[in-house]
Amino acid sequence: MISFRNSKSRLKRFRELTETVHTSALIEASLPVELWVEILALLRYMSMCFQTEHWTVSGTNYYGDHLLWMRLYDSVAKQIDGVAERAVGTAGEEAVDLGRSLDKIMAMKDLSGSRGAEKGLSLVNRLLMILEGADRLEMSIGTRDFLNGLASEMEISVYLLKQRIEGISYKG
Ligand SMILES: [Fe+2]
Repeated sequence: MISFRNSKSRLKRFRELTETVHTSALIEASLPVELWVEILALLRYMSMCFQTEHWTVSGTNYYGDHLLWMRLYDSVAKQIDGVAERAVGTAGEEAVDLGRSLDKIMAMKDLSGSRGAEKGLSLVNRLLMILEGADRLEMSIGTRDFLNGLASEMEISVYLLKQRIEGISYKG
């Protein structure tokens, strides 16, 4: 007969083993730190650009554009925390190092000299290209699923920005 004490210690050992397997599987399948830094910095830069557009729109399309940029920066801002937490969980705190993130953002400010929907589209497309590249790398099922969700959200932004470039006003 198994005593209570034994089953408790066996349960503890089982938990230790499964936790080790779980953690090592995540670490082995982690994306490179540099890639997380790049994705996070680009999202933060996009959020800042889109919110600045939201504050500074003018012209006949003022209200539609004001709402469009709010929709776009909200979408990006919602992704930032999830990306950062997944980056820390799989690649470590280095992946969200503020200095590295700021260095990347400073290098990104010249990505496009233009403003408005064209610049927004170039930033979203850049992120989609990075995500397509990342998809060829080894990662956990959960991380792949998460990044696919991010890509899907960005494809909606591409659609909205293309509509705006074609002169179709956003109605909210
Ligand atoms: Fe606002």
